[in-house]
Amino acid sequence: MPTVVAETIAELRACLTTARSEGSSVALVPTMGALHEGHLALIQRARELADVVVVSIFVNPLQFAAGEDLDKYPRTFDEDLAHLEELDAALLFLPSVDEVYPDGQKQTKVVAGHVGSLYEGRTRLGHFDGVLTIVAKLLNIVQPDVVVFGQKDAQQVFLVQRMVIDLNMPVRVEVVQTVREPDGLALSSRNRFLDVKEKRAALGLSIALEAAESSADRGTDAVLAAAQSAVAGAALVDLDYLALVDPKTFLPVDDNYQGKAIVLIAARVGTTRLIDNETIFLSRRS
Ligand code: PAF
Repeated sequence: MPTVVAETIAELRACLTTARSEGSSVALVPTMGALHEGHLALIQRARELADVVVVSIFVNPLQFAAGEDLDKYPRTFDEDLAHLEELDAALLFLPSVDEVYPDGQKQTKVVAGHVGSLYEGRTRLGHFDGVLTIVAKLLNIVQPDVVVFGQKDAQQVFLVQRMVIDLNMPVRVEVVQTVREPDGLALSSRNRFLDVKEKRAALGLSIALEAAESSADRGTDAVLAAAQSAVAGAALVDLDYLALVDPKTFLPVDDNYQGKAIVLIAARVGTTRLIDNETIFLSRRS
């Protein structure tokens, strides 16, 4: 079935009203386009969970800080549409910036709070207010039964889950594991900016996460030290942050912490900023 492209909220709602009147459930996969296998895994999961899958492609200016790569962000519409047709995704929502933000960027915003100012939020000021605002708008526009995100953006997932709870939004949040290249590199739309040397260097991130995992029985400080020294040995990788957080609060864990934790890493490889994460289980050898 060819993918229907809706460019306005009214068009999209008309399609969804018809689908719902036929008893169909709806899943939303929000994206900024430049679709890769990681996005396709989200769409496949969405297809398992609902009758109609809406994929949105919108490069959201509100989540880019001044000087970031908004203009450079890859826009690959024809390839994206071909992927969606292969996957039988029924509806593509492809709004313009004016359709989403008719009053410019001065409208009501969702504020991500303290966790939104940490890690990614420290480097990318206002990023998560922009992410949560667009996700809230998309949820209100589509009103899906389920919305699907990738664990690759762990902090985004945490903040969306919090927003859904805090603002009593009637939607299930489904999280899909990160898709990696065979060598371990996490798939990202920004990987296309890496040249061959940088792509090899970018493996430093997943190698650091593996080093963290293999020290998981030696306590928090040892985990961070192992990851730090792995990344210090990686040429061309300029570390931004490395953190070990409690998945329940997304705050850093202390040295005595035991249980599930998420190792977060962000680094610049050449001019490209990459993030990755891994969930590990911290247990101290007695
Ligand atoms: O993860 C992304 O691609 C974006 O942050 C999202 C969720 C589509 C909001 O613009």
